[in-house]
Amino acid sequence: MRHLMSPLDFSVEELDDLLRLANDIEKNPAKYAHTCEGKKLATCFYEPSTRTRLSFEAAMLNLGGQVLGFSEAGSSSAAKGESVSDTIRVISSYADICAMRHPKEGAPLVASMKSSIPVINAGDGGHQHPTQTLTDLLTIYSLKGRLDHLTIGLCGDLKFGRTVHSLIHALIRYPGIRFILISPEELRIPSNLYDEVLLKNNIDFRETVRLEDALPELDILYMTRVQRERFFNEEDYIRMKDFYILNKEKMELAPKDMLVLHPLPRVNEISVEVDDDPRAVYFKQAQYGVYVRMALILTLLEVNV
Ligand code: CP
Repeated sequence: MRHLMSPLDFSVEELDDLLRLANDIEKNPAKYAHTCEGKKLATCFYEPSTRTRLSFEAAMLNLGGQVLGFSEAGSSSAAKGESVSDTIRVISSYADICAMRHPKEGAPLVASMKSSIPVINAGDGGHQHPTQTLTDLLTIYSLKGRLDHLTIGLCGDLKFGRTVHSLIHALIRYPGIRFILISPEELRIPSNLYDEVLLKNNIDFRETVRLEDALPELDILYMTRVQRERFFNEEDYIRMKDFYILNKEKMELAPKDMLVLHPLPRVNEISVEVDDDPRAVYFKQAQYGVYVRMALILTLLEVNV
């Protein structure tokens, strides 16, 4: 039995297979419509979510399966003090697979150790968000045709943004990847990621505070929201929240084939006027999230189609 805690839980070859399966699901949805009949997905969300929870549920429903779960800790017995270990032991007898989001880093990993069904980390604190990374990889692979030899600008809250942390881990395994890390000083990537991942693996990267400086060089611009829920102090959040606003004027500095990704939700960091630009693919990206989660469910449940 396999769980998914980090994008590194899959080898590059396994990721390629997963992305190919997701592409086939997109093209031939009817072929997969009954593949999970009789199976149940539990979504255990201790933190708010729109895309991740609902795209997991849509994925399982598209596969002919059923869903159950809770969308906030307060409506589960966590409010009475139940541990994730006890919760997953119980859920293991109600469902065949579980997607779990939790504000504490490592909580889905703890759950996986007591689980008799596959557990998927659907976001744990500021740590990792592997299924968002699968979504991001599928978006880039589908729209750029490759995951190698790309210059990727990661912009915004690189300190607390778990999607950025997971994406860096995943992309450094492909040749010719170059990062431009665009953030204010206070929101630079964590030092362990800087030292232990980028420097240690000789990854080509540079840091800048100005988005305008990076834009002309980029194949992909990955915008992120300032993570209000991870700040200790509201004043710091207010000072940082509008540091970057991508608008039409800035888009003129970017290559004609650059793609703009964002894990969403967006707050102010991308002006709505950018939505009509053909390079803005963040809503398409959310759609890819359903196909890749369908592929992930089939893979972890070892369903052969
Ligand atoms: N991208 C993402 O994780 O969105 P939600 O918080 O809405 O699930």
